[in-house]
Amino acid sequence: MTVDVETRIVSQWATIYDAVYTTDGSSDEPDFAGWRSSITGENYTEAETAEWLDGTVAEIRALRPRRVLDVGAGSGLVVRELLSTVDEYVAVDISATAVERMSRTYGSRPGTRFLVRAADEIADLGPADVVVFNSVIHHFPGVEYLRRVIDRATSVGRTVFLGDVHSLPLRDALRLCALAVRAPGPLTAGQVRGWLDNQNARERELILDPGFFVDVAAEHGLVADVRLKPGRHGTEMNLFRYDVRLRPPTDRLLDPASLRRTPWRGAVEFVPQVLTGIPHPGLLPSVRALETVRTLDPSAPVDVAGLLTEPAEGIAPADLRADVERHGLTCYCVPSTEPGRYDAVIAEGRWDGVTRTSDPAGDRPAANRPALQH
Ligand SMILES: C[S@@+](CC[C@H](N)C(=O)[O-])C[C@H]1O[C@@H](n2cnc3c(N)ncnc32)[C@H](O)[C@@H]1O
Repeated sequence: MTVDVETRIVSQWATIYDAVYTTDGSSDEPDFAGWRSSITGENYTEAETAEWLDGTVAEIRALRPRRVLDVGAGSGLVVRELLSTVDEYVAVDISATAVERMSRTYGSRPGTRFLVRAADEIADLGPADVVVFNSVIHHFPGVEYLRRVIDRATSVGRTVFLGDVHSLPLRDALRLCALAVRAPGPLTAGQVRGWLDNQNARERELILDPGFFVDVAAEHGLVADVRLKPGRHGTEMNLFRYDVRLRPPTDRLLDPASLRRTPWRGAVEFVPQVLTGIPHPGLLPSVRALETVRTLDPSAPVDVAGLLTEPAEGIAPADLRADVERHGLTCYCVPSTEPGRYDAVIAEGRWDGVTRTSDPAGDRPAANRPALQH
């Protein structure tokens, strides 16, 4: 992809977000304009957005930043929560409307700066303890742009937090959930597969394998601390996205390689270990439905919605974490290479995070290639 095409895509997103942030924004109440589930097409409920925001802010606070560079800060959801606990806050966005609005609402606080900049124009904005890209990188024109941005972010920041990364291994399972809501009537397996291919070819957003971040972190002498979203609601955000921290290796990070690996056998033993392949009840039905659709004869009828209501075994990550913590242990839930499952890193003591939570991408595709908007 040429730089011209990248620039065109970035400016298209700026136009889209200028329109999203048109409200006068005179209050500093959290504004979730534009936050909609791609499964249902509906706005998230207040409880869902509140959980998502609290969880995100807690994850960033855990990195203990004094100086934050927030890239693609939008309506200032994260700014609003973090501002009072840090010394310096620099927020940038490609949307001039967003930046104007954040400056108006928060610009009088000492140590703040709000600038219209694209993510690859941040090299002079450091130093920062944490560079935040929360729910932003799926708008990037491609993986080359993302790599360039990560180069710059790691040169100005100690830790890079990338929140709400869209999961490539779960992409088609997510699409199937959306199809179940929209399907006009009975479909054949061939029609479902054709629909998935078509959606994937038209996809404008960047979707990534967690392993991509393991490779990129290693190239920068950092570790990739990749974790499932902390929330409980069965939303697209909690199920089909993950959070990444690219951080310097320290002895405050737990190395899963130091723990015994135990494959899931239907129950949790509350001892230090890496419990692998835990069925995720919120994900398994869609992953299994996808397997069915992929293996059936093209003319075979498929009841997509019916497949998705099949009950699934397992334990939700938030429940597992709570159970483990009740036993006085620390628990990190991390992506598994088996879609529909996850791993839990369980340890004694208190840690700042985990190292190498995911396998490198290896032979798997690291990312999709977003389509151009017309
Ligand atoms: C979904 S919103 C997230 C806003 C905010 N980070 C949050 O968590 O509430 C995505 C934001 O990213 C911005 N954005 C998209 N592409 C960008 C880029 N290449 N550089 C900087 N900002 C970008 C958009 O303008 C938009 O405000």
